[in-house]
Amino acid sequence: MLQINPNLNDLVSDAAAGLASQLGVDPTITAAAPGRVNLIGEHIDYCDGFVMPFAIDRYIVIAGKANGSSEARVATALGGPIVTLDLTRPQEVAEPKWANYLRGVIRGFQDRGHHIPGFDAYILSSVPGGAGLSSSAALECATATFLEGLLDTRLDTREKALLCQKAEHDFAHVPCGIMDQFASAFGKPNRLVLIDCRSGEPELVPFENPDLTVLISNTMVHHELSDGGYASRRKHTEDGLAILGKSSWREVSAADVQANWSRLGEPVNRRSRHVVGEIARTVEAAAALARNDFEALGPLMAASHDSLRDDFEVSCKELDIMVEIARTIGRSGGVIGARMTGGGFGGSTVTLCESSKAPEIAARLAADYEKTTGIKPQIFASRPSKGAHLVD
Ligand code: GLA
Repeated sequence: MLQINPNLNDLVSDAAAGLASQLGVDPTITAAAPGRVNLIGEHIDYCDGFVMPFAIDRYIVIAGKANGSSEARVATALGGPIVTLDLTRPQEVAEPKWANYLRGVIRGFQDRGHHIPGFDAYILSSVPGGAGLSSSAALECATATFLEGLLDTRLDTREKALLCQKAEHDFAHVPCGIMDQFASAFGKPNRLVLIDCRSGEPELVPFENPDLTVLISNTMVHHELSDGGYASRRKHTEDGLAILGKSSWREVSAADVQANWSRLGEPVNRRSRHVVGEIARTVEAAAALARNDFEALGPLMAASHDSLRDDFEVSCKELDIMVEIARTIGRSGGVIGARMTGGGFGGSTVTLCESSKAPEIAARLAADYEKTTGIKPQIFASRPSKGAHLVD
């Protein structure tokens, strides 16, 4: 039942083979960047909150080589026509849509005064798309890392992540926070990327207990953040803060939200309750992890899911069903906690469980989910992995 994560070395050789067969050249530069899963701290990265994601062992790999022209020619493992980009001009939004992530990142480099030489590239991914695991951030960070190789330059990691976030804003029109690009850029093996989104400081927190396993369950319900649901939630939180007359959510307490409930109005009051509650839960979860108190984590993950479902309204039936199955298996069955992860409206759940019981739990999640929904999910275990890097 548990899917095996494709080995990064295999992806790198497959990308080289793809480049050779599609564009007829061998790579001189190969970049890899991971997707992410978030343990807790959802929809608060754009509210000065704390988030606790890690880079997963699923990657987007870009293999390529300078081609001596002023054009980029890009092929992907998904097939479709080779995309050509004219690098003599500043990149703009265009068709096909997936290439906007590349255009946006190239534009970020152009805006910093870099002249991008022509190149051929081939893109391969083991990050499921539309699954709430940040395949778009992985593509942005892989592109930025590839360009660092091509230009023989290195950006500061934070600057690279922010350049990628801007590409997402301007070229994919998703007003995202900093979580995904930071997780993909800063990720390290055996470390969570705990981010204080007010200071923009990532802290690498140990997560290496072999008795703990993180299961990711892709509901296979495709999520789309560019269709307005994400932007509207972000707007509600901005409205809430303005009504409360504060400059940061870190200055707002649960009591402030309660005292201003009717002034905030529906649904901004519930959105606000989520934000302050989730910030507090994430701080508590980080403290619980630091003292190895895994029992404290479960209820925090449960409360996070309930709040995202009821107050923030970004869950969906299938995510709720997957979480419910994990809750039914419960602590006696080896489940420590479960919740939706990422932007929501479909996508994946994250289940923290005992490693010895992980295969059984995965089998049960898959079977019960399919029985209830008729959909075959994709379930895999993941460990914190290396962030965006050039492959030797
Ligand atoms: C998406 C965004 C992130 C974050 C999450 C929700 O993944 O890209 O910035 O807001 O949703 O936590």
